[in-house]
Amino acid sequence: MKLVQISDIHLTVPGERMGGLNPHHRFTQALDNVRAHHPDAARIIITGDLTHWGEPAAYQSLREALSDLPCPVRLMIGNHDDRAAFLATFPDQSRDLQGFVNHAETLDDTRLIYLDTTAPRTHAGHFCAARRDWLESELEACDRARLFMHHNVMPLGVPAEDKIALVPDDRAPLAGLLSRFRHRIDYIHFGHVHAPVHGTFCGIPFASVRSTGNQSLPDLVEPELLQAAPMAPSYAVILVEGEGTIIHEIPFGWDGPVFTSGTAWEDWAKPVAAQ
Ligand SMILES: [Fe+2]
Repeated sequence: MKLVQISDIHLTVPGERMGGLNPHHRFTQALDNVRAHHPDAARIIITGDLTHWGEPAAYQSLREALSDLPCPVRLMIGNHDDRAAFLATFPDQSRDLQGFVNHAETLDDTRLIYLDTTAPRTHAGHFCAARRDWLESELEACDRARLFMHHNVMPLGVPAEDKIALVPDDRAPLAGLLSRFRHRIDYIHFGHVHAPVHGTFCGIPFASVRSTGNQSLPDLVEPELLQAAPMAPSYAVILVEGEGTIIHEIPFGWDGPVFTSGTAWEDWAKPVAAQ
């Protein structure tokens, strides 16, 4: 099974820039790259920060950009999103009985769980009792799961970013659930940090992906200010084979030369022309 994870697209009202970049152009580049190279993907999962300011016009531009895709798309909201504005533009979006944008589906015997970790007017993540009940019921009902969310559950050793991870009071309840079901959860995938970070948490491997817009720099000392720069963007291709996971970072923005080599690989003798 091939999954595409795109994150933190931060769409604006068309014509407005974000962090000096045109987020619509970047997102279109990413989708065009998926169409060209990964038409066999089973899902495109966008892990939040669909928009930068949560404006209806930005969600409408997202809706228009999602036409003509090779597979279904799954949308998640992030700290820059507005749940009500999002649902107004995507009224058919699956959600739970409490109104959170929690949803799940089973593909190839794996439960793909999309967990809403947002709360209004805060950049930090939240995991309240209602969401705990929902996630617990999902995990109890499946044999194998793969968890997607916007926020990082765990601090990542980047002090300024860790201030907007899942709030400390909500970490232990989620960690408790993850520990209890760790043998059913193959992977945790998230966005939010605009950088590729990999590790394990409660014995479960996790990975984040870059934004399609500005990237963050992992400053392990700076206590307050987030560091960002318009570095090369990418999205992730997640290859799932049973319990196994392979993640490729796809640098979709590169438009320079590409050198090819390979074939018989008998290239240990320096060519005469190069001597
Ligand atoms: Fe973001």
